[in-house]
Amino acid sequence: MTKHKNNILILAIESSCDDTSAAVMVDGRVRSNEVATQEMHRAFGGVVPELASRVHQEHITLVVDVALRHAGVQAKDLTAIAFTRGPGLMGSLLVGISFAKGLSIGLGIPLIGVNHMEAHVLAHFIDEPKPEFPFLCLTVSGGHTEIILVNSPLEMIRLGKTLDDAAGEAFDKTGKMLGLEYPAGPIIDQLAQKGEPRFSFPKPRIDGLDFSFSGLKTSILYFLRDRVNENPEFIEENLTDICTSVQETITDILIEKLVQASEKTGIREIAIAGGVSANRTLREKVTGASAKYGWNNYIPRLEYCTDNAAMIAMAGHFKYLAGRFTSLDAVPDVRLGIPG
Ligand code: KG4
Ligand code: ZN
Repeated sequence: MTKHKNNILILAIESSCDDTSAAVMVDGRVRSNEVATQEMHRAFGGVVPELASRVHQEHITLVVDVALRHAGVQAKDLTAIAFTRGPGLMGSLLVGISFAKGLSIGLGIPLIGVNHMEAHVLAHFIDEPKPEFPFLCLTVSGGHTEIILVNSPLEMIRLGKTLDDAAGEAFDKTGKMLGLEYPAGPIIDQLAQKGEPRFSFPKPRIDGLDFSFSGLKTSILYFLRDRVNENPEFIEENLTDICTSVQETITDILIEKLVQASEKTGIREIAIAGGVSANRTLREKVTGASAKYGWNNYIPRLEYCTDNAAMIAMAGHFKYLAGRFTSLDAVPDVRLGIPG
């Protein structure tokens, strides 16, 4: 591309868990977004941190190179490097931060450390329509389940969080009990489309806007144990109906709190973000609630729901405009979150 002096060209790197991703953003628009997914964790039924870190090291140079080439951008033209500082796995984050620092020193351009959870929320500013401030964002991933009040791109307050498991974990752990591969969320989603919600599971009674999924996990475990004792083929014979029933329960829990948050704050600009926002039933329920409660809803494109560097670039762009840079002695922050 022809570079003008005032173009803001950001290269972003995401390596918080098991996806190595790099994206190029020019003046707030995504030019490329490459993701190398680590398939080998499937065999272990979950992410193996040490393995994830090593595979990030193998992937990162190629992923960054392809992102630059697809964007038609040369490294020497970059304005800044954004990277995920946390939350995430220490070994995985270290690969991204070290690579970003190396490029920053080599190219003599600033570093921008990004909060992965803020980036999931800011994925809404990649495409149109964009939410108006203030808005509420239900951020649901493998590690987090939160309701965030977003006052501006860089001013967020957490109104509710999970007290134990995240919604994605509830999907993944159910999948493990059903003998499905990791991550089970997308597989359950697929199977659930063909079933009926014939089984019911108790929903937690938690005050305020916090969530809990550990009770549901235990009740699914006991339900399956009892039914399999009666009929060893129970899971195979009822797989789609079990998936539909579990998916109905998890998404009901999420939607009920989102409705409460909207009523409590009076905000009707409603967004969802994170890996679980790819879930079809959740998307349908958000659309249904929007018609019922007069919400404007915002649901990102699938590729911007699960972990990706385009959302890190978007957050990096806002931080660049605000002059919020990160020093070269920055370290990963595995517990970084949104203040509550
Ligand atoms: O945001 P993400 O890609 O990574 C984290 O930061 O955790 O979220 C991954 C989570 C996994 O638990 C995965 O099972 C879940 O998102 N997930 C889904 C779907 N797609 C991904 N859960 C339910 N339905 C889906 N379609
Ligand atoms: Zn994530």
